[in-house]
Amino acid sequence: MGKIILTGDRPTGRLHVGHYVGSLRNRVILQNSGKFEKLFFMIADAQALTDNFDNPGKVRENILQVALDYMACGLDPAKCHMFIQSVVCELTELTFYYMNLVTLARLERNPTVKAEIQLRGFNHSIPMGFLTYPVSQTADITAFMADTVPVGEDQLPMIEQAREIVRRFNELYGETLVEPAALLPDNAACLRLPGTDGKAKMSKSLGNCIYLADEPEDIRTKVMGMFTDPNHLQVSDPGQTEGNPVFMYLDAFCRDEFFARYLPDYANLDELKAHYQRGGLGDVKVKKFLNNVLQETLEPIRTRRKELEKDPGYVMDVLRQGTEVAQAAAAETLAEGINIVEKKPTPPDTVFSKALGGWYDIVVVMYHDQGHIPLKVKGFVYNKAEGHWDAVAGVNVTLGLPIIRASVDHGTGFGHAGDGHANELSLVNAMDYGIRMANAKAQK
Ligand code: TRP
Repeated sequence: MGKIILTGDRPTGRLHVGHYVGSLRNRVILQNSGKFEKLFFMIADAQALTDNFDNPGKVRENILQVALDYMACGLDPAKCHMFIQSVVCELTELTFYYMNLVTLARLERNPTVKAEIQLRGFNHSIPMGFLTYPVSQTADITAFMADTVPVGEDQLPMIEQAREIVRRFNELYGETLVEPAALLPDNAACLRLPGTDGKAKMSKSLGNCIYLADEPEDIRTKVMGMFTDPNHLQVSDPGQTEGNPVFMYLDAFCRDEFFARYLPDYANLDELKAHYQRGGLGDVKVKKFLNNVLQETLEPIRTRRKELEKDPGYVMDVLRQGTEVAQAAAAETLAEGINIVEKKPTPPDTVFSKALGGWYDIVVVMYHDQGHIPLKVKGFVYNKAEGHWDAVAGVNVTLGLPIIRASVDHGTGFGHAGDGHANELSLVNAMDYGIRMANAKAQK
């Protein structure tokens, strides 16, 4: 089997330059390297809900924003699959099985989770969904049999946790799952780009991020306001480059060729740093150079993003197609992997199939409106020959999106001809509704 990549981002805001040097830039290189058989890039909306469950609207809106950032950076739907996590129900199902393979104590020891619990002030009232997100992340990775997971340094404990779960699974049930490895950026400066204020974490609430979508003027203002060495008061003072945000950004973004274009007095970053350390080089000059470097790097991304923004329908379509591929891949893993654990029994006769007396093949499909296109929420097909309901793959309802349509189709087809029904149906209501409609039709 060829090499497979999976990685993703939580859609809680637009992506910024930290995401870019930490992972996005590398993903595009990996995508174009021809070394990977399949690449999956996931918008982790279900994971984002684990600490934004009180604000699903924010998560929902940012799905499109992240997709725009992905494509603006050069992720190409012809070469990779970009998809929405919550739509692939199989990931949730895998998570449920993996939960058996990890203890509460182990989850509480996960350093990333520990730090985030502190940051969010959860203390002893940690939502279970949040605590178990590393398990769901294991499902994300293994569902695609991914061996390579390009991530930032903060995600290393997640990959370690995934490797442990995979080993445990394989030990108990036979060699089935692939043990993944993290792939970090080569350039150490890209591992943790600080905020423009020098704080270790870039965050929207701190207002210390440069976004990929920022306008040239915003970038300039943010760069010129960046923190530097606090002891470098006069141009003549010797300055520190280590831990100095401006130089940390240059470490991550600068290439020698930029000097020829914008600062020809120096051949490379080492020379610039040496001058700063000796004294005699002012912050403004270095900031202006960094501004030029960032402007040149971000300009093509912003331009492509603006083009894509004009056609959100196209972007959502890319996600829909990517999601279909992802869903099929995850279903295959689930069938192969989990049936080893437990051959799933056929669902027992339900109220619904009893009500129908097994007369009809019926499909109930619900839709919700996710931005621009209706997506399938969940469907059930009544299998007359075998006498049971089968869930058909679709979208789960964790995002609490309004359901705009539930529809019923007779025969073997899977469609939404007629029988539209509006608003806020629960899954059970929709099935019930489907059966009533089906019975009504049959009586005609
Ligand atoms: N936790 C990752 C982040 O916060 C996003 C993510 C979800 C992910 N599932 C993943 C990354 C699987 C790599 C693999 O950025």
